[in-house]
Amino acid sequence: MKLWGGRFTKETNQLVQAFNASVSFDQKFYKEDIEGSIAHVIMLAKQGIITEDDKEAIITGLKGILADIEAGRLEIDDEHEDIHSFVEAHLTERIGEAGKKLHTGRSRNDQVALDMKLYTRKEILEMDGLLKDLLNSLLKIIKGNTDTIMPGFTHLQKAQPVTLAHHMGAYFEMFKRDRSRLKDIFERMNYCPLGAGALAGTTYPLDRDFTAKQLGFKGPALNSMDAVSDRDYLIEFSSAMSIIMMHLSRFCEEITIWNSNEYQFIEIDDAYSTGSSIMPQKKNPDIAELVRGKTGRVYGTLVSLLTTMKGLSLAYNKDMQEDKELVFDAIDTTKGCILLFNGMLDTMTFNKDKMRKSAEGGFTNATDAADYLVNHGVPFRDAHGIIGELVLYCIGNNKTLGELSLDEYRNISPVFEEDIYNAISMETCIGKRNTTGAPGQQAMGEVIKIYEKYLDSNASKY
Ligand code: ARG
Repeated sequence: MKLWGGRFTKETNQLVQAFNASVSFDQKFYKEDIEGSIAHVIMLAKQGIITEDDKEAIITGLKGILADIEAGRLEIDDEHEDIHSFVEAHLTERIGEAGKKLHTGRSRNDQVALDMKLYTRKEILEMDGLLKDLLNSLLKIIKGNTDTIMPGFTHLQKAQPVTLAHHMGAYFEMFKRDRSRLKDIFERMNYCPLGAGALAGTTYPLDRDFTAKQLGFKGPALNSMDAVSDRDYLIEFSSAMSIIMMHLSRFCEEITIWNSNEYQFIEIDDAYSTGSSIMPQKKNPDIAELVRGKTGRVYGTLVSLLTTMKGLSLAYNKDMQEDKELVFDAIDTTKGCILLFNGMLDTMTFNKDKMRKSAEGGFTNATDAADYLVNHGVPFRDAHGIIGELVLYCIGNNKTLGELSLDEYRNISPVFEEDIYNAISMETCIGKRNTTGAPGQQAMGEVIKIYEKYLDSNASKY
């Protein structure tokens, strides 16, 4: 059934019909479409625009359609242009004349804007819940590894020792910010477009506050032209998803490196890795690589949407139909990646010995050795030069700083005493770094308390 046949004398070209149709993808929000229609008819009856009897008939009909779709008794076919036409056609088929009154005071423009908002709102909450689960997994690793020493890197070169807890804490911060971005978007988008009509409101005495409240919005969107043509929230959401994916992708890059034969910092659980069809020895980090790979797809949504919107005059234009497939794909991709990543992380084991040996082997305590000299009165610039010489000597003699004899130390500077060994031990390097946000156990302990409180109090409902 077409919603707009009256003005036309010829049938639509078949290719045009297919090109124009959106039912193959907008069926994803059948539930939201029905929910919005129910709120609309309740308001229409309250305002005396339709009768109570019509309202009851429409609601019963809509609920029946919903139940039938959910039970698989009613299939959403592609005979209809979009989900809105599909629902209305089936309603009229079921309840007769009253069904034709559903669309009073409404356009598909405000209807689709509402459906997409309701759908997005639900998905934002789900994504937030998945991020919260991920943060819980991270906190578990953080709490168990405040003493697990590993090298910290800059330029992918060993820099200073950190702990696994501290390294994981960096990602905890990133995903925490991702959640707060989702929360901001939710707050900003939470205004109801229903009642905006095609673009200029309607002449019926609609109660927009009432429908907005029924549907859980903060209020009605205050400009009807904006209400039907605002897709900012989808762009913001795509941006937030792009950032989530970027964070996951960085993490995946590290996991891929840590999993390599050269590093062997981690062991990915068999359930989360794959083999090679030809090389029997292989255990590949495919999940990490795929998450990293899928990041580009989500960025694609952001760029596509920005490009689609940039040339559009007010108000609704059909170009906007393009928002759906892109955003649906980005949502499914991002949610899937968070879920899979969390499973991989939660089952991964850490090779603590390898991590510690790696930290010990890369002169990660050179800064602390220089600080030792500074604490004994040597100016920092001179200390830096002395330790540089020592490192050169170590490289030439295949030793670590900890393996040098006191004589070897003293050959380069007489300031060194027996306590140098303690000063540059991995434990000291970590344990002394207790400024807020640093890897020292005391500093991490404070941060862990904050994280526990944050996860306790932050229910995934806004
Ligand atoms: N399928 C359309 C979309 O997604 C629904 C709105 C149609 N409105 C219109 N004026 N043709 O944007």
